[in-house]
Amino acid sequence: MSDLHPRKMDFAFEERDVPFVWNPDNPAWSSMSNAISFLAVGFEKMIVKAIMQAKPRMTDPKVADEAAAFMRQEGHHSAAHRQHVKALINRYPGLQNTLDAVIGEYDLLAEATSLDYRLAYTADLEATFTPVFKLMLDNDATLFRPGDDRVASLFIWHFVEEVEHRSSALIIFNSLVGSELYRTRMAPSIFTHVMKVMRIASAGFNLHVPMKDRKVDAMSMFATHRAKQKVLTSFAPYLSKGIMPRAFDGLGRGEQFTALAGIIRSQMPHHDPSHEKLPALADEWFARYDAG
Ligand SMILES: [Fe+2]
Ligand SMILES: [Fe+2]
Repeated sequence: MSDLHPRKMDFAFEERDVPFVWNPDNPAWSSMSNAISFLAVGFEKMIVKAIMQAKPRMTDPKVADEAAAFMRQEGHHSAAHRQHVKALINRYPGLQNTLDAVIGEYDLLAEATSLDYRLAYTADLEATFTPVFKLMLDNDATLFRPGDDRVASLFIWHFVEEVEHRSSALIIFNSLVGSELYRTRMAPSIFTHVMKVMRIASAGFNLHVPMKDRKVDAMSMFATHRAKQKVLTSFAPYLSKGIMPRAFDGLGRGEQFTALAGIIRSQMPHHDPSHEKLPALADEWFARYDAG
């Protein structure tokens, strides 16, 4: 039996309006995490489809069991992020277009690439989550605590379960495809695609969410955009799409460097996430969940 516990959650997003800037202390982080919500809907839908397609190839019952529990967790994440995104669309109907575009990107990927590639995509992206989400969860006091409790709870639940199933996608990939070199070689194209999806979501925010609600240029998470805008707005200030703070400006440089090193390490052949340093909040969350 897999050790994973699929937990179905309801954050009651329909009860009252969900603000775009859900953490008023950090609009850049609010925008970035909203883009993660859009990406999660498309990406996790792709994972579920890929695992279903891969099922007949799973001859090891342990791997099949891990895949089933992993797929259930991702299915629950996707459904919860849909509720969050739906609440944002209710407020800004143009964002429906943005969601369609994000899901469309993943549907296109599913049509255009092999199952091996999508298993590598899942393993590569999931491998980055433990170091990245550790950075976020370790800074709970500034990134989550001051925010809307429903949105903050959604992300904390999702991120601690990503830490819990940090090895699943690699176990599946290694059992079914088994080429660590292939996974490493595909990483550049995979992360180019991830960034493309984040750009689609962020550009949609700039287009459909008025500046007074969004507070920042949603594209400011991309260094290339910040550099371009600096040059452009020095000549034509009216082309500004808002101020350009970074989501992690308030976080320690050392912690950010550790996360970056973890991302690079996660893409190397023979990476084993079971040895990763884990965020303290994950254990605390599981203990409190188990205690009811
Ligand atoms: Fe997930
Ligand atoms: Fe995941």
